[in-house]
Amino acid sequence: MGLRDRLPSDEAGVDAGNGADVGYYKSRLLQDVDLTELATLNPTQRRARLERVVGHTLSAEGPVLSTRERSSLIRRVVDEALGLGVLEPLLADEDVTEIMVNGPANVFVERAGRLERVAARFNDDEHLLQTIDRIVSGVNRRVDESSPMVDARLPTGERVNVIVSPLSLSGPVLTIRRFPRPYSMEELIQRGSLDAPTGLLLAALVRGRLNVIVSGGTGSGKTTLLNALSAFIPDDERIITIEDAAELTLRQDHVISLESRPANAEGRGSVTIRDLMRNSLRMRPDRIIVGEVRGGETLDMLQAMSTGHDGSLATVHANSAADAVMRLETLASMTELDIPFEALRDQINSAVHVLVHLNRYADGSRRVGEVAAVVSRHRDAIRLATLMRYEPEPLAADRVQRGETCYSPLPVGLLDRLLLAGEAVPAAFGQPRRDAVAVDGLDGLDGLDGLDGLDGLGRREGG
Ligand SMILES: Nc1ncnc2c1ncn2[C@@H]1O[C@H](COP(=O)(O)OP(=O)(O)OP(=O)(O)O)[C@@H](O)[C@H]1O
Ligand SMILES: [Mg+2]
Repeated sequence: MGLRDRLPSDEAGVDAGNGADVGYYKSRLLQDVDLTELATLNPTQRRARLERVVGHTLSAEGPVLSTRERSSLIRRVVDEALGLGVLEPLLADEDVTEIMVNGPANVFVERAGRLERVAARFNDDEHLLQTIDRIVSGVNRRVDESSPMVDARLPTGERVNVIVSPLSLSGPVLTIRRFPRPYSMEELIQRGSLDAPTGLLLAALVRGRLNVIVSGGTGSGKTTLLNALSAFIPDDERIITIEDAAELTLRQDHVISLESRPANAEGRGSVTIRDLMRNSLRMRPDRIIVGEVRGGETLDMLQAMSTGHDGSLATVHANSAADAVMRLETLASMTELDIPFEALRDQINSAVHVLVHLNRYADGSRRVGEVAAVVSRHRDAIRLATLMRYEPEPLAADRVQRGETCYSPLPVGLLDRLLLAGEAVPAAFGQPRRDAVAVDGLDGLDGLDGLDGLDGLGRREGG
């Protein structure tokens, strides 16, 4: 069971009971409890056992507390003994997407896209460093003056970055990125992260084996959308995912997840995304999913996409769909090969079919801002046709982002590919042609009401 699952998610306990009390009861707990017995219990039993022991100690010698104070103190003591102390309630809170600790007294979280300060605090630098040690020693790393900067992960998958003095002048700084919750396409539509016709179109593109690149800034939701998109890959295909930190959670049976590895302390043994990308081509993949392209692997990915591994997906860090294409060009030229510029263009023109760009808006929401198709061919300069664009309105007094979604008809080449693959095209994108199988009646589905009709979001039986 994960850290997140071990705790209820109310925050009442964060400031109840002072640090000294917690420290005292924790050391009493460690004296009183039989550690060998504890090792035989599962995490739930272990927590229950520890809570009972602290409860006894508190009844025997503790101060008079209200029921709520008492259970909150017990929980804090057990949290300290078991895990990450003051961070545990924050990790248990499903709405928190990022936890930022800037020295012992400043703890911030990101909730629903907004930063807020929370009451949780560590007693002092030493206490914070202990927690940091607990995290990094779990993955065989250490933090000290000689290695003051470390990336690690919690057992539950959360990405952790630590930077301490002398590099950090603000005390030990800990940043925890919540393991992205897998949202389905339906959930993303319900949350307003994209509209139903666009969701249907993207689903059809993935099922129809078009190559899709997801772009966006840091934390804009690229991995989240990639995950939702990959759900539309039929069950009978062999999928290989390649990531720096495995975050994708695919439900299909036939999935192989590869994770790159940083160099060890001696600077050896690193395995890059590019190494994995090249290796994956020898593993007979039907589809390759690259978590994020950042360097030389871009060229290998483009080559794979245009030579038989169509229907592959990747993300790239960029500021717009047009910028994403330029980034791909730049990244693909970062290889040792001296590949002529025209050849690179050729590669992109034949490999990339559709770009989906994500933005973060003023109210903190993450949204698909643009979907564009590559319409240039061969060695032509790259041209994009916008299929969908979200036009945000100025933020109103209620600080909710509103806007309008504009659709354009699919370019004929793309339309034909979808139709050939037996996919229907949402009416919003159709100049319904005589031969086109347009799905009618999806225009108005921007709210929850129409979601029943989203049959197209299901996976196609048997591919
Ligand atoms: N549409 C969404 N609605 C609500 N929360 C979202 C949405 N998309 C992403 N998030 C949340 O935002 C955070 C960042 O998402 P994600 O990891 O997908 O972004 P990213 O662009 O891949 O980030 P990075 O650049 O670090 O790789 C996660 O906590 C995720 O759960
Ligand atoms: Mg990501």
